[in-house]
Amino acid sequence: MLNAIEQKKGKVRILDQSRLPHEILWIECRNWRDVAKCIKGLKIRGAPAIGIAAAMGVALGAQAAKARSARDLCQALGPVFEGLLATRPTAVNIKWAADRMKARLAGMALAPGGGSASAARETLWREAALIHEEDIRINRTIGQWGAQLISDGDVVLTHCNAGALATGGYGTATAAIFAAHEQGKKVHVIVDETRPVLQGARLTALEMKEAGIPMTLITDNSAGALLRKAEINLAIVGTDRTARNGDVANKIGTYSVAVLCKENRVPFYVAAPLSSIDFSMPSGDMIPIEERDPEEVASVAGKRIAPRGVNIRNMAFDVTPARYVTAIITELGVFRPGDIKKLSGGRRFSPERASYFLPGARCSSR
Ligand code: MRU
Repeated sequence: MLNAIEQKKGKVRILDQSRLPHEILWIECRNWRDVAKCIKGLKIRGAPAIGIAAAMGVALGAQAAKARSARDLCQALGPVFEGLLATRPTAVNIKWAADRMKARLAGMALAPGGGSASAARETLWREAALIHEEDIRINRTIGQWGAQLISDGDVVLTHCNAGALATGGYGTATAAIFAAHEQGKKVHVIVDETRPVLQGARLTALEMKEAGIPMTLITDNSAGALLRKAEINLAIVGTDRTARNGDVANKIGTYSVAVLCKENRVPFYVAAPLSSIDFSMPSGDMIPIEERDPEEVASVAGKRIAPRGVNIRNMAFDVTPARYVTAIITELGVFRPGDIKKLSGGRRFSPERASYFLPGARCSSR
């Protein structure tokens, strides 16, 4: 499986996803600004992956900052946190990762004398690596839960890329598909191409092909027709930010898929690690939606298709109200969207307080 990002000896390398599937090009990030540029330019994309990149960006920022103590570093890293948070507003994972790095640093700064800067730098690198490793483990668990929703012979629709490339590895929505496939179930995946920048056609199609999972690529506007013909059994997508009430922000077009699923009585599932759930946000109405360069809509693969001078709107994400979501697959289990708020205690969450979508189900890898 392709990796989106790696860190080695104080260096960060990002696989340039804008070149895929035609070219494998690794970008070496020497400072946090290089990382921010990669995130903004979609060289690395997908909510968990940009969270991991942001954490590594903070570690790079700390490496370059002039500081004698961890306390100095807290001050010096203010613009680094701000710069990374400003790259892409919708995915909550950047804030989640930045908050975790900040908390780690603040803990070190409490030591007598403000803590040593060199120890803090090392700790930040370790924390970034931990965030990366944990994400892969969490995705494997999501896969175990999600695979229980897929039956032998199912046709699964997915939108955008919530795969290994969008995460630390293994993906979220794709984790369910990979796990079902590994369990020997026959799965066929319908991949929405996902305009404007074609994450489905370029990235999900590549990941399915590499994993040997049968797939069919469709234009985004074909999904409705296939759902109506009863040629799709379920849909699974990822999320950039899920609100407390279970409203789901994900790649533009997800809302249309969810509504069409409900109309055709097809289950619509969302794979969401807790790092993508914003428990501070009461509903999806408040989720900031990124608007991107109109040129992405005006062109296909770098070739201008629209006449010059026309109005263009390029919303990168939409919000699917919780009522269209059958269930949310997290590392703690599969829940009705209305029950997501009960997970706000994270690891301290008590299972007896929640009603599982899969009652009594227990995940083997937990
Ligand atoms: O603009 P992108 O490519 O970053 O959008 C990615 C998505 O919408 C994914 O579905 C989402 O981040 C979940 S990835 C596990």
